[in-house]
Amino acid sequence: MRKRMLAGNWKMNKLNGDLAAFFAAFGNAVTGDAAVAAAERVDVLFAVPYTLLAQAVVAAAPWGIRIAAQNLHADPSGAFTGEISIPMLKEAGVTASLIGHSERRQFFGETDATVARKTRAALEQGMLPIVCLGETLVEREAGQTEAVVKRQLAAVMEALPPGPVADAMVLAYEPVWAIGTGRSATSQQAEEVHHFLRSQLSTHLGAAAAGQMRILYGGSASPANIAELLAQPDIDGGLVGGASLKPDDFARMVLTAL
Ligand code: PGA
Repeated sequence: MRKRMLAGNWKMNKLNGDLAAFFAAFGNAVTGDAAVAAAERVDVLFAVPYTLLAQAVVAAAPWGIRIAAQNLHADPSGAFTGEISIPMLKEAGVTASLIGHSERRQFFGETDATVARKTRAALEQGMLPIVCLGETLVEREAGQTEAVVKRQLAAVMEALPPGPVADAMVLAYEPVWAIGTGRSATSQQAEEVHHFLRSQLSTHLGAAAAGQMRILYGGSASPANIAELLAQPDIDGGLVGGASLKPDDFARMVLTAL
């Protein structure tokens, strides 16, 4: 049985001064038996901006919440101005990172090859990669959704280090047209792609590993639609942008996932 995961993605939002109030509000909304159940049944994490990482690790720890980065560089050190390495993230107490978010691919030139390289580096260094993939609206309307996510996934699969990875990484299907638009994929649209991705995982890794790996849905996930999304057999959680900025909304989503 796959443990659910709800991952907030704060993108380029919030300051260190916001952390205490945010986690206090979140903690007040998920208390008592629900907090115990949440710890057992849902992995909760937030991907926050770099300057917040170290303080967020401390602020989130009392609630058993993990802090993730939104990006990383595959090399451990070197002449890469403006970049951040896995050892740097680990030093801050970070144990997971988004990789290949569509905003990285769209605005910062990340390719299938860089995403694959970063995923491999994260796996080799014990950092949980949450690998994002998904099609644009143009690609969906051209009937290319499966071909696009198949290609994106294959690049990552071909670069995997040896050894089991099913528990060591997470996929996030995020249709680009649904991100930040308020226009979520329907649960049926999402399930179709999740099911397809799991069949692709089976081809690459075998049925057992495919059955084990978590696949999150992202793109206008909210308290209003998370129950329906989570009811789908191949949807194991959410990668949540806008709704993760509001502690009450995100807490409602966690409570729904219990
Ligand atoms: P959204 O963002 O929930 O605001 O659509 C999701 C994401 O980009 O991860």
